[in-house]
Amino acid sequence: MAEAQARQHGGNAGDDPAMAEGGVRFEVDGEIATITLDRPEKRNAQTFATWSALARIGETLPERVRVVVVKGEGPSFSAGIDLRMFTAEGVPGQGSFGSAAKSDGASFEQSIRRAQAGFLWLRRPEIVSIAAVQGHAIGAGFQLALACDLRIVADDVSFCMKEPALGLVPDLTGTKPLVELVGLAKAIDICLTARTVHADEAMRIGLAERVVAGGDLEQATREKVEQLLSTNRDAAAATKRLLQGAQGRTLEEQSRAEGIEQAARIKALFG
Ligand code: ACO
Repeated sequence: MAEAQARQHGGNAGDDPAMAEGGVRFEVDGEIATITLDRPEKRNAQTFATWSALARIGETLPERVRVVVVKGEGPSFSAGIDLRMFTAEGVPGQGSFGSAAKSDGASFEQSIRRAQAGFLWLRRPEIVSIAAVQGHAIGAGFQLALACDLRIVADDVSFCMKEPALGLVPDLTGTKPLVELVGLAKAIDICLTARTVHADEAMRIGLAERVVAGGDLEQATREKVEQLLSTNRDAAAATKRLLQGAQGRTLEEQSRAEGIEQAARIKALFG
């Protein structure tokens, strides 16, 4: 209910118990939505409730939103999955990996698909998503940053794909964007060593669009939002569709796709 109100009035959905359980805050201000991971005392560790909350935001995002900012409260963007998942007790109400291992594989796979839904919508052509990343972005935290179209990072950022060190694979949609951003060899290096990527390397290899001093992260993100909102909404969505499809098409196919999108634009603008 609170979320529905936030959609209508551009307010804060922080009162929604499902958001609170997931440690997520969600605010809409005109064309800008902000998702804040809000469990700083636990370094914004993520649970299945976090991913459900993200999925619900995606399902109910107001149509007027053009830019989605994803950020983390406190010193870290996100320290990844809640480590209680590795314990026998697990996360209250959400189980543990131990209990998941005893259930049938199909239902756990389904849970993963649901979790992934919380990340996948951030790539929709109708929006541009920006991760504003400071401090640690580990495992699921790194993958949430990768789920966004753009990453603006503070100079203390440290990305780490820790899953292989814990016997897991990165399964929250991060592998494809990582390979597309940095190339296969670098992605193998980063994931299979579980090493830390700091700000200067993140910038150099294309993980980050911009590195700023920690205190300037909010302002830098705001500037990017303003730049993104300065272009035509429909042209932006059409252009993002073209860019997203470019790698999977031949030059000939891509040229044809450009023509189709442009014809629709001309019709909308001058028809
Ligand atoms: N899950 C649950 N709680 C966490 C997590 C986590 N992933 N990360 C940090 N916390 C908690 C700590 O237990 C601590 O709680 P406490 O104050 O009740 O003891 C609090 O957050 C602060 O953590 P510190 O370790 O004291 O903070 P610091 O800034 O020194 O270190 C760091 C931060 C490096 C992120 C460290 O907490 C850490 O290594 N966390 C675990 C990272 C990890 O392995 N994540 C899993 C990745 S794999 C995946 O995501 C699928």
